[in-house]
Amino acid sequence: MCGIFCLLSLSAARCAWSEAVHERLKRRGPDSSQDVTVGGTDACYRCLFSAHVLHMKGLLTPQPVQDHTGNVLVWNGEIFGGLPVMPEENDTAVVSQRLSSCDGPSDILSVLSTLRGPWAFVYHQKAGDYLWFGRDFLGRRSLLWTFDAEVNALTLTSVAARESGPTQSSWQEVPAVGVYRVDLKAVAEAGCVTFEVYPWAHGGRDLVSRNSPAVLESVPSGCTAVMNRSGLVLTSPVCPLNTSIPKLSDEEEIHPNSHSHVTDLEQLLASKENNDEVNRLTYVLSEAVRRRVQSLPFKVQDDSPSPDELASVAILFSGGLDSMILAALADRHIPAHQPIDLLNVAFKLQVPKKPKESARRPGKRQNKPTDCKGDGADPQTSSPFDVPDRITGKAGLGELRDLNPERRWNFVEIDVTKEELQKMRQERVCHLVHPLETVLDDSIGCAVWFAARGIGYVTGHGDPRPFTSSAKVVLTGIGADEQLAGYSRHRVRFTASGHEGLIQELEMELGRIPSRNLGRDDRVIGDHGKEARFPYLDEDVVSHLNSLPVWEKADLSLPRGVGEKLLLRLTAKRLGLGQSAVLPKRAMQFGSRIAKMEARHEKASDRCTRLLTE
Ligand SMILES: *[C@@H]1O[C@H](CO)[C@@H](O)[C@H](O)[C@H]1NC(C)=O
Ligand SMILES: *[C@@H]1O[C@H](CO)[C@@H](O)[C@H](O)[C@H]1NC(C)=O
Ligand SMILES: *[C@@H]1O[C@H](CO)[C@@H](O)[C@H](O)[C@H]1NC(C)=O
Repeated sequence: MCGIFCLLSLSAARCAWSEAVHERLKRRGPDSSQDVTVGGTDACYRCLFSAHVLHMKGLLTPQPVQDHTGNVLVWNGEIFGGLPVMPEENDTAVVSQRLSSCDGPSDILSVLSTLRGPWAFVYHQKAGDYLWFGRDFLGRRSLLWTFDAEVNALTLTSVAARESGPTQSSWQEVPAVGVYRVDLKAVAEAGCVTFEVYPWAHGGRDLVSRNSPAVLESVPSGCTAVMNRSGLVLTSPVCPLNTSIPKLSDEEEIHPNSHSHVTDLEQLLASKENNDEVNRLTYVLSEAVRRRVQSLPFKVQDDSPSPDELASVAILFSGGLDSMILAALADRHIPAHQPIDLLNVAFKLQVPKKPKESARRPGKRQNKPTDCKGDGADPQTSSPFDVPDRITGKAGLGELRDLNPERRWNFVEIDVTKEELQKMRQERVCHLVHPLETVLDDSIGCAVWFAARGIGYVTGHGDPRPFTSSAKVVLTGIGADEQLAGYSRHRVRFTASGHEGLIQELEMELGRIPSRNLGRDDRVIGDHGKEARFPYLDEDVVSHLNSLPVWEKADLSLPRGVGEKLLLRLTAKRLGLGQSAVLPKRAMQFGSRIAKMEARHEKASDRCTRLLTE
């Protein structure tokens, strides 16, 4: 994980760049910071590169990397496949070497097409004077852009800053539709910036695949974009979505049990066909997790215990299906003596005023006998942090302990009060979420920020003790719902317009996941000097799931808690998980109760006024 930045200025005026942005980039990459400038005083443009590196593996490679011919690369990525990278090598150096040997655009596109793993980059190709930049096919790393017409300067950066006051900031996420090339000589002559777009395409035939025309409209104002007509494209790393619809004659075969309302996963698992599919998904998911958890460093703290006591991997953990599967698979690939941190975030429940309120201690359950009067739980019997995700999280912890009693599972209870939420939102999170701005972005952005920070309590034997996660890698379950029909809107769509409607919904959702979620989550998690990794969005996993017909992945004629993400539930069973395999989906903003905390009547898609800076 790195913070990368590039400022292209076309006027002689030296434009300063924001100290606030610099500071945020440095938090993403605390281990090394450097700047390189290309284009001297006589050139008609100047390109300032700034890079801040989080050291993950191999030797630390300071960036920007400048090769012997003078090409400059800033790279925020991780190579999990496609190019050979030995354990002791650094992928930045490997990418730089590969790009150095490229001549024309087709060489560069072919290098980028072979990479597997998340990335965002900016590259100055000295021969011909081109500036290249872009994000991977799924947009798993953030890259923002803005153009300042006053000083004639284009900025690209991993993270920006929300400006206070009434001025509308003009930051936008660079759309993950392909890579972009700027002809610096031409641009300097014309005095305005034009991007040439080389789009991602499936096997070269489906050129307009992922809303490429949209990019032509979403370029920063003052700039223009043109699609390249030469037919040069990036080859998509995943296969297209299988859009088969079951034939009527197949219905009986597909839902042999639906009349009898079978809710028993064991019974479904017993059927052979399901078994093969379950084995295949278990294998590809397991490999995706393996690639993301092996040979990792951990953060060393002042009072660190021996390395054996430190986790190098943490999981955003609600105890739900997606995070339980990640934990069970991580357990297979992380050495037995190493702990795994399970990060569980809870926002304090707003309980009606009661006289005994002050007697409660944060993070500690009060085990008084229940004295239920009427509806549900008595607030006095439980901690105000016993939100739904805390309760399923503890149950999940129990299942994981049964699965591997030898492993030390650090269940980190991260308790957040309203005061702390409001303070950190203003100081940090509002800048990281930016330029996204909805109520949902605020809820998820804040919840993920606190969870990923990893500061809370762990209860071992006896009292809870303060705990800070040492893991540099944070696994998240994002992508499972979008691919396996986990959201309730999938059920709505299926009921209204059948398999066809469901497929359209899934296709649309995978296409917008870069702009809806991934840039934001990368910025939020990266702020802790930690790296977000998304096993469900591994290219092999996405490709495998895309190849399956929709009815293998979900059966929305079955009840909630079974039918959605059916294949994943069967996989959980196969991995030996119990009750968590049949938990219905609960969105993080509700599970963590952050959505309740500030108790406003607002829609998730509304613009969030709390994100505005003072
Ligand atoms: C990795 O980085 C170090 C330090 O910059 C460098 O000496 C080494 O050659 C690099 N490794 C590879 C494989 O390029
Ligand atoms: C498309 O790319 C080719 C190869 O780089 C280049 O010669 C051509 O001018 C580009 N077309 C446009 C419209 O930019
Ligand atoms: C889609 O799924 C159907 C049914 O399993 C299969 O026959 C077909 O080959 C798949 N199509 C693609 C493109 O994978």
